[in-house]
Amino acid sequence: MISFARGAPAPECLDAELLADCARAAVAGDAGVLAYGSGGGYGPLRAWLGARHGVDPGRVIVTNGGLQGFVFYAEELLAERPGRVLVEAPTYDRPLKILARLGAEVVPLAMDGEGLDPDALERELAGGQASFLYTIPTFQNPSGRTLSTERRRRVVELVAAHGLPVLEDDPYGLVRYEGEPPPSLHELEGGELVTYASSFSKTVAPGVRVGWFAAPAELAARLEARAVSNYISPPFLTQATVFELIDRGAFEPNLERIKGLLKTRRDAMLDALARELDGRATWSEPEGGYFLWVDVPTDAADLLSRAEAAGVTFVKGSDFFSDGSGAGSARLAFSYASPSEIGSGVSTLASLLRA
Ligand SMILES: Cc1ncc(COP(=O)(O)O)c(C=O)c1O
Repeated sequence: MISFARGAPAPECLDAELLADCARAAVAGDAGVLAYGSGGGYGPLRAWLGARHGVDPGRVIVTNGGLQGFVFYAEELLAERPGRVLVEAPTYDRPLKILARLGAEVVPLAMDGEGLDPDALERELAGGQASFLYTIPTFQNPSGRTLSTERRRRVVELVAAHGLPVLEDDPYGLVRYEGEPPPSLHELEGGELVTYASSFSKTVAPGVRVGWFAAPAELAARLEARAVSNYISPPFLTQATVFELIDRGAFEPNLERIKGLLKTRRDAMLDALARELDGRATWSEPEGGYFLWVDVPTDAADLLSRAEAAGVTFVKGSDFFSDGSGAGSARLAFSYASPSEIGSGVSTLASLLRA
């Protein structure tokens, strides 16, 4: 099966030797990583992340991957400010499931090629208090779209005017193949309302399970207490391994290597789409990240079942909407399959669309 479904890095992206060496050095250098410790994460990593985001290290909470951080954030916010949770439509499917489990009322906000539509946000905010906005402004999962700088400023103005907390989820921002990075919402807003979240899953390895939050001070304290009550302290071994990688200057070169591997895949997918589907479908052309979004002239669930029978899988668009829309769209991950698999997988999809 050729997988355009897995939002995971290709196996070659994971440098096992480097990580094994960093893990050994981390334990040898600080046996404290084998003990219980602070619920907010490994001190040196918190300090490094704090400096990177211009916040006190106490405001950085290192979680077991970004998704667990999302659960903690959503639980805290929904307890403090019950109400609607505003999300992009489409958005990452796992948070949709988590919010449904937590009993939240999810309100989808329209997007276009430039990302979240600020007018849709403004209209929704006029309707009364919301709990928080969840947004993935850069190389969004699933659409691959990036919120323009102008819209970022507008979103920040709107949330400031309404005192709306925001969770800016940004695991893909550093995985940029070309173009200039826009400022984060967190930077633009100053970190009073916007909590920034990211992860080393896409830039080092998902298996390290190291994500982080830069949150307002009072919320960070509550997130840390929630972490402690869930698992006492997080696994310092993997957090210290990531810190060792950073401290020895290997993070940037490793990221460049990963970006080289993934850019080749992104280009292979864009080339194959242009070759095979020009005039039959439309798609996003992301400057980074793992995904692109394709609008097809048919029902994507039906296409998926025919594609799986022919050896290709992807995720149908409707999985990323809370209201069942997206029937004519698909998320294609280019991060996992090899460039030649990408070419033949797109050919298969094109022949099914022609049939
Ligand atoms: C937007 C987004 N947020 C969070 C995550 C979770 O990442 P992790 O828990 O591996 O850090 C993902 C993973 O695909 C994602 O796409």
